[in-house]
Amino acid sequence: MTSTLKSLRALADATRLRIAALLEKDELSVNELQEIMRLGQSRISTHLGLLADCDLVRPRREGKRTFYKLNPQADPMARDFIQLAIRGAKELPEHGSDEINLRRILHRRREQAQVFFNQVAGRFDRVYGPGRSWQAFGHLLLRILPPLVVADLGAGEGLLSELLARRCKKVIAVDNSERIVAFGAAKARKNGLKNLEFRLGDLQSPPIEASSVDLVILSQALHHAEDPAAALVAASKILRLHGQVMILDLLQHNFEDARKLYGDRWLGFSESDLQRWLEGAGFKKVEISVVAREEQPPHFQTVLAGAERG
Ligand SMILES: C[S@@+](CC[C@H](N)C(=O)[O-])C[C@H]1O[C@@H](n2cnc3c(N)ncnc32)[C@H](O)[C@@H]1O
Repeated sequence: MTSTLKSLRALADATRLRIAALLEKDELSVNELQEIMRLGQSRISTHLGLLADCDLVRPRREGKRTFYKLNPQADPMARDFIQLAIRGAKELPEHGSDEINLRRILHRRREQAQVFFNQVAGRFDRVYGPGRSWQAFGHLLLRILPPLVVADLGAGEGLLSELLARRCKKVIAVDNSERIVAFGAAKARKNGLKNLEFRLGDLQSPPIEASSVDLVILSQALHHAEDPAAALVAASKILRLHGQVMILDLLQHNFEDARKLYGDRWLGFSESDLQRWLEGAGFKKVEISVVAREEQPPHFQTVLAGAERG
């Protein structure tokens, strides 16, 4: 049988005309068609099978469900047939109720998504969101970063350095622990990050040429420095004119055990201390804000300070 005859025969049925008219409005699953048309599942599946055989509709599997839609790539003649079928469906007595039921189903679909988000509104950042993570946000933000030369001072094993190296021109990770530098360098090699270089050194006198980097990062490192103000003067020296310093550190706290538990020298910093030291080191456009607070005691807060070398 020619495809023309097959298509005509497939559409020569009131139920299939109704299905074509419904699928013109939206992609629908068998269950949804069942609910709209008030017909049994096997009948609907048989009709859909016939329409799919002539390539008038296309199935799409999603999990356990199959959704159907009109074939957007149908040839011009098949499209004409479908338009005729849709016109014919409008003359059927069931057309009115099909339209009303379709509207209800589509409304319910939209509501299902909204119910969840309405429930979590106000605590969205604290509930689990599939696929949502700070790591993913980090990668997104990296994409908008220009290709900078970065110095990560007190870099540890290079958690942040590695992420930055995927985007930046060069990252120099400085740490004063020999073992950490050896471990970080081996990991960078293993991960093929040729533009990430580990150097052993002190963040108060980093082994980096003067005026050579675009960005200095001190992430949870400044509170280990003997003299934080001197560390910021050193950061300013290695920065190019208008280069940026970014500090992530703990806001001043009184959890004394941090010295023993984490080897901290300073119990965080006040915003005013950071401001004073940055300005004292010649930085301009100083911006400081608290960006995170931990849920668990002692409720450490993270302060982010950024400034430009004037
Ligand atoms: C809390 S870790 C932070 C690591 C990394 N920046 C991060 O945010 O994950 C502090 C790191 O600073 C290093 N460090 C401590 N004092 C330092 C100093 N005076 N000069 C350079 N690195 C130092 C430690 O060896 C450690 O790896």
